[in-house]
Amino acid sequence: MARSLLITRIGELVTNATEGGGPGGFAAISDAALVIVGDQVAWTGPAAKAPAADDFLDAAGRAVLPGFVDSHAHLVFAGERSAEFAARMAGRPYAAGGIRTTVAATRAATDAELRAGLRRLTREMLRQGTTTFECKSGYGLTTDDEARCTALAAELTDEVTYLGAHVVPAEFAADPAGYVDLVCGPMLAACEAHCRWVDVFCERGAFGADEARTVLTAGMARGLLPRIHANQLGPGPGVRLAAELGAASADHCTFLTDADVAALASSGTVATLLPGAEFSTRQPYPDARRLLDAGVTVALATDCNPGTSFTTSMPFCVALAVRDMRMTTEEAVWSATAGGARALRRADVGYLAPGARADLVILDAPSHAHLAYRPGVPLVHAVYQSGARQDGP
Ligand code: NIG
Ligand code: FE
Repeated sequence: MARSLLITRIGELVTNATEGGGPGGFAAISDAALVIVGDQVAWTGPAAKAPAADDFLDAAGRAVLPGFVDSHAHLVFAGERSAEFAARMAGRPYAAGGIRTTVAATRAATDAELRAGLRRLTREMLRQGTTTFECKSGYGLTTDDEARCTALAAELTDEVTYLGAHVVPAEFAADPAGYVDLVCGPMLAACEAHCRWVDVFCERGAFGADEARTVLTAGMARGLLPRIHANQLGPGPGVRLAAELGAASADHCTFLTDADVAALASSGTVATLLPGAEFSTRQPYPDARRLLDAGVTVALATDCNPGTSFTTSMPFCVALAVRDMRMTTEEAVWSATAGGARALRRADVGYLAPGARADLVILDAPSHAHLAYRPGVPLVHAVYQSGARQDGP
């Protein structure tokens, strides 16, 4: 029988659970306790009613949250683009072509170098409370490079996304249709075993609606589930395509028409907002209130990538969402945990109730609101993943 751990004197326990104990909207218990048995949550409730357990941890009034679920990240790459960032901050606009710089560096890197970079970023994520993450390919863009990028990602997460259709690489500039054929044929065949998801960057300068539909349906025919980079740099067809194909998530959603919002609301496709990208490109933030008011499910994620959002910090994204996207602290924390779980169609994470995976963050703060109230402060006191305490920050 697995040992049990009672964490008690929790100032605020964010559960995101219904009364019945399933995943639900934002919910929290004050003066709470939680019991972990093995890799699962076994009990939550008021500290005064907590059952006995083998081991005991005094949270001393700290807040406990579900581990963050970062449902959008590009972590397998080499090099960095701080010069491009600096130029942008000096007034140069972002263009999708910067991706090709990282593609060149990634192709030139060894597996060991790519693995080291990936592990460094995932350690950073964990230290900041992320216990589930998605990881895309998309900086290889040859069959062999995409295959090794997806294989490396699969060493660390079950949520690997095939993004061969990130941008048309330079060697196919004169033959974009030929590149789409490669992405839908040999490259997909080489990557699919490592992946759960297929994604496409549907944007001017990347792939149009027809190409995006071709790529996503090819992936779906091989058993991958669709998600899409949509409406990031301008209005476009991506969000409506996501709804049409029943994609789990449409990501970015920065430039939306009323028809786009209605399509998201009626399809159940999650809108994943990535405020780190707007922060680092000086674009306008997506209108989270418009989406929430229309009944769209909103997730928050980092979009960690070397071009537009080189942050692994979900607390930073929560702070941006509250300050600059006018989400309430409750909405932002829900979107960074349960919302991410919805965007990944995961029923075992993003909430804390009996049966959930024991992924949780203990904050050095009395409430979840401190994530936005104290921006930039390393508030993560401890992280448990599948019931096991991870190395301290
Ligand atoms: O999500 N939109 C496409 N991909 C990334 C940008 C990648 C890059 O610039 O390297 C994004 O913002
Ligand atoms: Fe992205």
